[in-house]
Amino acid sequence: MALPPQFIGRLSLPVISAPMFLASNPQMVIENCKAGIIGTFPAANQRTTEGFEQWVVEIKQALSDFEASSGKQPAPFGVNIIIHKTNPRVEADLAILVKHQVPLLITSLGAVASVVDAVHSYGGVVFHDVTNAKHGKKAMQAGVDGLIGVCAGAGGHAGTMHPFALVQELRSFFDKTIILAGGISTGEEIAAVRCLGADLVSMGTRFLATSECPVNPDYKQMIIDSSAADIVYTDAISGVPASFLKQSVENAGYDLNNLPKPDVFDIGTETSLDDHVKEGEVTAKPWKDIWSAGHGISAITEQLTIAQLIDQLASGYQQALKRLS
Ligand SMILES: Cc1cc2nc3c(=O)[nH]c(=O)nc-3n(C[C@H](O)[C@H](O)[C@H](O)COP(=O)(O)O)c2cc1C
Repeated sequence: MALPPQFIGRLSLPVISAPMFLASNPQMVIENCKAGIIGTFPAANQRTTEGFEQWVVEIKQALSDFEASSGKQPAPFGVNIIIHKTNPRVEADLAILVKHQVPLLITSLGAVASVVDAVHSYGGVVFHDVTNAKHGKKAMQAGVDGLIGVCAGAGGHAGTMHPFALVQELRSFFDKTIILAGGISTGEEIAAVRCLGADLVSMGTRFLATSECPVNPDYKQMIIDSSAADIVYTDAISGVPASFLKQSVENAGYDLNNLPKPDVFDIGTETSLDDHVKEGEVTAKPWKDIWSAGHGISAITEQLTIAQLIDQLASGYQQALKRLS
């Protein structure tokens, strides 16, 4: 496995619980890391940099208490920052990462060498979200430690490439960590991703219906009741192509057969959330009222705690590896 040296021996399963706007919170991160997978959250899930710093301090304290009481080293945790001119908090949030030596930064949109250097200055690791080889090469030039290939069927801002082809293309020029994301929901699928030559899996949707996830209970139930056919991939809601639960799009007042042309570019931050009210009768807000999920929802049939879910994933992963050997 091409893992950053800082992560070797720290994971019970090669999985990142992906950052999710308005969904990932400290409780999820702490439970994920205690169970041995990388827990993450978007800095934008707190409305201010001060609030974001409080979450970082809370997570660090809980993980160090866990280590002291159990004698077990938890998995590292990470933060997602959207590197884009419409995000006014980039510098301030980055300073918090450096101050508290956050082990992992996941960047979306921009891959910037000065950001990577800032995280490397204290021994941290940077993974960058990409949907194709062109953006992967740019991120490699910026010096990132890992590429997260976000493929077709992912929750959030999904890509369009088939996962086999995406891993193959990224591996052809990148020999550091490759993480695959999109539609991955079971331990067997984690094993399949390892067979493809990727090192880690990033799973978002799979964690939305866990007990610790703070989203609306109706959102969790809709995930449990739905399958891949209930997902619509459209740029009409947030201005860039993303996956949403059809029923929540309809509940918001949209006509699925006549979705509007995109009129905003919503990168998914609290600022854009406040600003974004569609013209006409639809006033629902993407992410908050119009719910995102990926094709992997078919595998989600009940609400589990994070510990139960990770146990289930680990057992499916081990069984699949046994079958292969
Ligand atoms: C509700 C939701 C919100 C998301 N918000 C973000 C985000 O703020 N930043 C980000 O980089 N990715 C975000 N994503 C994408 C995830 O980090 C991850 O790439 C994706 O969930 C993987 O696909 P999967 O959902 O099929 O597992 C979001 C995904 C979902 C489902």
